[in-house]
Amino acid sequence: MKKYSLRSRVLHWMIALLAVALLAGGFFGQTIPIEEKAAFYSPHKSVGLTLLALMAFRIYAIRADGYPELPAQAALWQKTLARGVQYGLYGLLLLQPLSGWVMSSASGHTPVYFGLFAVPFPFIHDAPSIAHIARNVHGVCPWLIIMLMVLHITGSIKHYFFDRDNVVQTML
Ligand code: HEM
Repeated sequence: MKKYSLRSRVLHWMIALLAVALLAGGFFGQTIPIEEKAAFYSPHKSVGLTLLALMAFRIYAIRADGYPELPAQAALWQKTLARGVQYGLYGLLLLQPLSGWVMSSASGHTPVYFGLFAVPFPFIHDAPSIAHIARNVHGVCPWLIIMLMVLHITGSIKHYFFDRDNVVQTML
């Protein structure tokens, strides 16, 4: 059985873990008093930028190492749905950190990576209208990510418990 390469598998699970933590932390941050928000979101920004870098590396690794095909007996609609959800997650997990980064830089709250150095988004600084658009994107994408994650996990459960093929094992 062909599996995803070791680095692709490690990256998949690291990204999954960080994405869930960022979603939970991001929503929780909306419930805290405004004066505590900057301190709360500072690590959120750094972890989010880390996820962006891991996503870039993951896309490189998938292209360089290849990936296993879905089972030949799966219906075309199933394969299309599975790959559509996968690519949707790739796109959203790039768009979400990018929109957060643009929002922060455009609103004058440039991220400082784990307190070490500032990481301004190139060419964007103090641009309220851009910040407004990026904030809306950053508020909508999490719901799409959750929706696709639910579909992705439902598919995995189906493969593991009902179809009893090796699709889930290719990522373990
Ligand atoms: C995949 C990575 C990320 C995920 C899943 C994520 C998730 C979230 C979520 C769910 C919220 C709450 C949104 C709402 O309810 O309106 C949020 C807020 C926020 N995020 Fe992210 N985020 C990510 C990356 C980033 C990055 C890279 C930055 C900045 C460099 C960032 C900066 C912020 C800020 C400043 C807020 C507060 C927005 C506000 O209160 O208006 N995020 N994030």
